[in-house]
Amino acid sequence: MKRLYFGSNLKMYKNVHDTVCYLKELEALTMDLDRERVELFIMPSFTALAEAKKNVQRIQIGAQNMCWADRGQFTGEISPCMLEELGVGLVMVGHSERRHVFGETDEEVNQKVLAGLRHGMQVLLCVGETADDKKYGISADVLRKQLLVGLHGVSGQDARSIGVAYEPVWSIGVDGIPASPDYAEEMHRVIKDCLKDIFGEASGSIPVLYGGSVNSGNARQLIARESIDGLFVGRAAWQAGQFNRLIRDAVEAKIPG
Ligand code: 13P
Repeated sequence: MKRLYFGSNLKMYKNVHDTVCYLKELEALTMDLDRERVELFIMPSFTALAEAKKNVQRIQIGAQNMCWADRGQFTGEISPCMLEELGVGLVMVGHSERRHVFGETDEEVNQKVLAGLRHGMQVLLCVGETADDKKYGISADVLRKQLLVGLHGVSGQDARSIGVAYEPVWSIGVDGIPASPDYAEEMHRVIKDCLKDIFGEASGSIPVLYGGSVNSGNARQLIARESIDGLFVGRAAWQAGQFNRLIRDAVEAKIPG
């Protein structure tokens, strides 16, 4: 039975109190979901990570970003050692907003991926093309570059600790247009083919999630596609009840009955 992944990036919206309330409600609502079939993860702000870890058992807690270095002259950054200290075993790297608002490069993303793996973390690598990339027909090339550079130096053994989130830049956030299920499937195939080129058979363990304006109206059609292993949700997940319904709907669409 194929495992499905559902996660949310809380971005910079919930303080510690709101994060804990949200997580407690989400955990209570999703308690009965079989974790062999459904993996659930939430990425709060740094300041809420410690309390988030203390307050949930069945939801994996991840960081939205981190520095590649263990320590040093990196004012304002958070080290993998600091996340380790909190027991955070999952980190997201290369989110579209990190790349496009804060100017992160593929090379920096690669250093962060390697740092996460060095610290025994699971790493969710985000990739996605811009609207211009799509217009000029270079989406597949952009995705391949982000993967080849982002995963440079990652061993086949470490592939087990990697997940990929495909989030086209033009699909994310309030002005985003969700990718059609056909287009998302096509890009997921590009990603899976590239992962196979990099890791060979070991790539089979890498889940590829779709993110970008996922909502209750499109979750079923997206998850039903063969190469979509999970959904990475922003706005439509920030109320626990709404996210719970979206997850159940999607699970039913992928695994009827
Ligand atoms: P939205 O679902 O709000 O478009 O955000 C997606 C996202 O950025 C998840 O990381």
